[in-house]
Amino acid sequence: MTGNDIDRRHRFAQDCARQAGAIARHYFRSGEALSSAEKGRHDPVTQADLEIDRFLIDQLAGAFPADGILTEETGGSPARHLWVIDPIDGTLNFARGIAHFAVSIAFCIDGRTESGVVYDPVSNEIFTARRGQGAFCNGRPIRVRAARGPSDAIVDAGYSLRHPAADYLGLIGNLLGQGYAFVQNGSAAMGLAAVACGRIDGFCELSLKSWDVLAGLLLVEEAGGWTSDFPHGPGLLEGHKVLACTPSIRQSLQDLMLAATTPRRKTLLSSHEIRRGTASARP
Ligand code: IPD
Repeated sequence: MTGNDIDRRHRFAQDCARQAGAIARHYFRSGEALSSAEKGRHDPVTQADLEIDRFLIDQLAGAFPADGILTEETGGSPARHLWVIDPIDGTLNFARGIAHFAVSIAFCIDGRTESGVVYDPVSNEIFTARRGQGAFCNGRPIRVRAARGPSDAIVDAGYSLRHPAADYLGLIGNLLGQGYAFVQNGSAAMGLAAVACGRIDGFCELSLKSWDVLAGLLLVEEAGGWTSDFPHGPGLLEGHKVLACTPSIRQSLQDLMLAATTPRRKTLLSSHEIRRGTASARP
């Protein structure tokens, strides 16, 4: 596949995201977003998720019939040339009338994300990244923020019931112990876009799916940030730990995430223990 082929897909993904976002906006403003079914506890799927999922599959399969497609609502399987889509990331917000959700579209070749598009239909902001060409918001270049350290940094620590609450509590305790400010805004795609444009300094979650994050991770990378690797191949269908941040707080956040998920260190760590690397479990 040539650079022009990827460029064409990158432009097409932006058009599709805007159209998909218009559908979401219509449902959101009409109040119809509120009718939803539960996939699991606190995990709704709305009519809009299903309609946008179908719309995006039809558009992409029509334009690029040889490409594979993997979506949150329909599934799919890994392929050399693969679209990875979340029709609405932040569905719980969407279904409750909270204006913080996005359409997320990534295009990958041989396990590497080449194009990422995250569209917020309420603010009408489109975040885009093409590998090696930088990241943009509504066409303007964006960069991660140069945080001085934890006490100067805001981290979005996402949560879902897919991961044990004890690990999440450990993570939050450790973030606060080191002096970070934290938020939990309910959309991984939007959290990653916020890191990419420097509104916040980091995003982490203990278990996320590829459709939630591939586009956003490329945004952060192309905006000069650091991101954890997301496994491709069969790993695309599973949940994985995700961290993306401005480089100055990478080590600190990696340590915090590790501490939160390592059994013997699950209890809260003091900032002193973490700094000295002498953390041990406390009752
Ligand atoms: C969810 C959002 C949320 C994250 C959950 C995801 P969805 O995706 O990204 O921020 O905490 O883990 O499942 O279900 O709204 O597409």
